[in-house]
Amino acid sequence: MNNLISSLLPESIKNLIPYQSARRIGATGHLYLNANELEQPLPCSNPQQPLNRYPDFKPQQLAEAYLDFCQVEADCLAVRGADEGIELLVRTFCAPAVDNILICTPTYGMYEICATASGVGVHRVPLTADFELDIPSIETLLPTTKLIFICAPNNPTGNLLDSSSIRHLLEKTKESHVVAVDEAYIEYSEQDSVLPLLAEFPNLVIIRTLSKAFGLAALRVGFVVGSPVMINALRKLIAPYPIPDPCADIAIDALQPSNVEQMRAAVKKQNKIKQQFCDQLSESEWVERIYPSATNFVLVRFKPSLNPFDLLIAEGIVTRNQSHEPALQDCVRITIGSEQSMAEIISALNNKKREI
Ligand SMILES: Cc1ncc(COP(=O)(O)O)c(C=O)c1O
Repeated sequence: MNNLISSLLPESIKNLIPYQSARRIGATGHLYLNANELEQPLPCSNPQQPLNRYPDFKPQQLAEAYLDFCQVEADCLAVRGADEGIELLVRTFCAPAVDNILICTPTYGMYEICATASGVGVHRVPLTADFELDIPSIETLLPTTKLIFICAPNNPTGNLLDSSSIRHLLEKTKESHVVAVDEAYIEYSEQDSVLPLLAEFPNLVIIRTLSKAFGLAALRVGFVVGSPVMINALRKLIAPYPIPDPCADIAIDALQPSNVEQMRAAVKKQNKIKQQFCDQLSESEWVERIYPSATNFVLVRFKPSLNPFDLLIAEGIVTRNQSHEPALQDCVRITIGSEQSMAEIISALNNKKREI
């Protein structure tokens, strides 16, 4: 194992021999009586896709389909949604009551939840006023940090992060930390992916998902992309049979070139609706600020007197209130839906105007 990754693993993980599931051990024969499965599917099961056997422990075809999509020389692990990738990174690299992760707030909540649930500490470094990385503050906490999560584009702020800051951080941590860049929304801004940096930085690992632009949130399929050494480390802790066969098949199909084209066309359309929505929103007197978005949502700051979340919910429109975040008072995160859905928001705001 590469020295850097090996040196970052807690002793208990370094020495861990992964569970040897029947699929992991392999071995070929004509009778498979090694996994306590039902040898013949029941008559009521779907003959097109019998489900009596455990799935592949490392669905290779799925990983290859994703790497083809990424067009990168790397390795990749299919996981049950990006959320499982986040959890796996915390459990693999951080020892409870010893290590800390570092996050830049406000950001996606699961980094902190996963760490806290595992007894791992959390360093929170607020983003700057324009939602960029505060590199000097991050650097002061590096001596007590093991794993850094960067969400780019960031949820809930929606912005891309300055690529030179990310590069700087990778340079600084190249021999000492794992940097996980969560690119759950990257398809909305593809040219800004950090994938090309994988060749340069063995400490970089990238989290991806089919839940957003691919429209497959119910499938629970995501990916962790990194060097073979990094991915092998994560494989130590992954569940014995991570991806159900029907999910792997649907995901492989979604990654075929013609379906990727459809995804890209849908992204283009959604980005156009987002632009129109932001243009209309900017004319509303209730809106204080619309933050730049490289995602399928926009963060909007409203006039303090409006109470936008309640106003919209009264109209049956459910958005995400961000007021619990100190930096996001009076902010609401709005997912971009159809033109019609966005028009409903505009008209709810305009109607409010007429009332006063
Ligand atoms: C930044 C970010 N990462 C990860 C996830 C989780 O994605 P998945 O559905 O693949 O678990 C989300 C979901 O909202 C997200 O916003």
